[in-house]
Amino acid sequence: MLYESLPGHKRGIFFFIAVCVVFMQAGIWAGRRRTQDNFPDDSLVPTSKVLPFVKSDNRPSIKDHPIPKLMQDAENKFRHLLSHQSSTLKEAVAEYKRRYKRDPPPGFDDWWRFAEDNDVLMRDDYNAIVEDLAPFWELSPEELRKRAALAGHLPSIDLVRVRNGKSRAVNIKDGPESPELPNIDFPVNSMAEGRILVPWEHRLFPNLTEGSIKAHLSGVYPPDWRGQGTVWEAYRRTCNPNEPARRLYSSFRASTSQRRNSRLVAASDEFSFSDGNTGNYSFCQNPWAHINQGHFFSDWRTIPVLFPVFSPAKASGYLDIRIPSHYYYAQTRRYTYGWDPVNLELKKVDHMETPWESKSDKIFWRGASTGGGSSPPGFSNQYQRHRFVRMASDESYNNRTIIFADPPSSTNYVHAHVPTVYLNDDIMDVAFVKVVDSSNYPGGIGALISDHRFDDGGVNLGDHWKHKYLVDIDGMGYSGRFFSFLESDSAVMKATVYREFFEPWIQPWLHYIPLSASYQEIYNIHAFFSGASSSTLQIANATALSVSPSKRRSVDGDRRLRRIARAGKQWKRTIGRRVDMEGE
Ligand SMILES: *[C@@H]1O[C@H](CO)[C@@H](O)[C@H](O)[C@H]1NC(C)=O
Ligand SMILES: *[C@@H]1O[C@H](CO)[C@@H](O)[C@H](O)[C@H]1NC(C)=O
Ligand SMILES: *[C@@H]1O[C@H](CO)[C@@H](O)[C@H](O)[C@H]1NC(C)=O
Ligand SMILES: *[C@@H]1O[C@H](CO)[C@@H](O)[C@H](O)[C@H]1NC(C)=O
Repeated sequence: MLYESLPGHKRGIFFFIAVCVVFMQAGIWAGRRRTQDNFPDDSLVPTSKVLPFVKSDNRPSIKDHPIPKLMQDAENKFRHLLSHQSSTLKEAVAEYKRRYKRDPPPGFDDWWRFAEDNDVLMRDDYNAIVEDLAPFWELSPEELRKRAALAGHLPSIDLVRVRNGKSRAVNIKDGPESPELPNIDFPVNSMAEGRILVPWEHRLFPNLTEGSIKAHLSGVYPPDWRGQGTVWEAYRRTCNPNEPARRLYSSFRASTSQRRNSRLVAASDEFSFSDGNTGNYSFCQNPWAHINQGHFFSDWRTIPVLFPVFSPAKASGYLDIRIPSHYYYAQTRRYTYGWDPVNLELKKVDHMETPWESKSDKIFWRGASTGGGSSPPGFSNQYQRHRFVRMASDESYNNRTIIFADPPSSTNYVHAHVPTVYLNDDIMDVAFVKVVDSSNYPGGIGALISDHRFDDGGVNLGDHWKHKYLVDIDGMGYSGRFFSFLESDSAVMKATVYREFFEPWIQPWLHYIPLSASYQEIYNIHAFFSGASSSTLQIANATALSVSPSKRRSVDGDRRLRRIARAGKQWKRTIGRRVDMEGE
């Protein structure tokens, strides 16, 4: 769609909408080819901005807790977003012109009808796609078309061909019919990682690109790095020459000391809550942070040319064009809430769903030990999943500072220093369930197993619903579980550096709880919603100890947590629907 629609006829959004069906088809097909036995990588990232919960003397303030304000602001923001959507075609056209300084694409009225017929709530907010398409406006239509066709020859890029309204993933089955579709080719990334990293100089001097295109199509580069470079090296070149990441030695030194000092966070991170805008985190400005992100160690070679490639997610700095993930669109036992694999039908309530009152208050995560590659090797202990599992199964007596209301549901916040081992015992249920890529781990499989908690029992998607808190963390790629987690009756805590198509539509602290890349604040998030854990109460000799155990929970916090669980479900059912992905 876009190369045809973009520069030349300035079509744009309508095509994106009409054609998303095609991407879905392509994505499903591409996904099928990939390893089916793993969740895509679930893990996490750096904090873009944190809200201080400390006074200048570095003692926790016990006056106001920041979470109620974060939740209130989130609700106001989202309400504002919803209430400002256009309600007539005329308004939508005016809004489109106002925002994007051009006329809406031809077919906009068809799209509007589609939106009305399907109760699409987000009718004006297409900033994600507009942002992703912006670099392509600089190319001529011929050039764009050429590059789209060439991109289909790159490794792990599938070409979806639309001819006479029929989409076809090349050499796969026919896609859905849609008369609005022009004849066109769509290059779709079949990997979970972003692919397109264009060096800063090449964006400035496009005349440098031709050589790059030729080199990449000539077959001289194998699909993986084989020691000839890394994602991080390619990424650094996308940064402005003035940025720290371009200064090799500072970036290198930082990462060396980082490695030595594996506890990469200051104690105050324990009271710093993410605003959820982690997708905008700048690795160019904070080069050291890259070692905590598995995708920078991916073995797959990135592409240094502005090819129009459609991908389900990308970190900031990548120039892929975001489309909905096939994990969200397809209906499968492993990724779809309410999917009945026997009768092949979607149920409103998942057969393993559990009433809120019966859900455990523990923080739950299961997954495989994936999350990156080995380019270069030796860093997998820093990948998101590994860090999280180690943190949650740490049996040390190092204190964490926990802030909680005493008595429960009051606004009298006190704090206690609680040994990590007790906290983890009280509130964490986090483990790997499968050894993967153990040869990447420093010390091999023995070290991997002794450093992390492994739970032998397998886990079904439905087993998650037994817990109030579901953690969603990405790794080498985004987490394909997010939509199913949202739709469940549990609350989602999500940490990510990836940006996905729904970014402008979802509101952290309303639909889910955003987590920082360090995860360190998770203990205080839990203490806010669920109240102090039993060890914390003991250590603090809190007044709650004088009441019966059933009264010790934070009624107010639990109600708030449930509100987040419900809002996430509502979001999935009104904005994260399959038809919204088609409409996108
Ligand atoms: C590209 O353009 C710049 C500025 O116009 C010029 O200085 C440079 O030599 C050109 N490079 C090539 C490879 O043509
Ligand atoms: C993230 O960065 C993009 C591009 O710089 C910008 O358009 C967008 O507004 C930013 N998002 C937020 C939430 O700051
Ligand atoms: C943890 O905190 C307690 C109470 O403040 C203190 O007595 C103890 O020494 C601390 N433990 C460590 C390992 O710092
Ligand atoms: C705990 O608190 C109770 C009353 O709140 C008090 O009587 C008791 O002495 C305290 N115990 C310790 C060890 O401080």
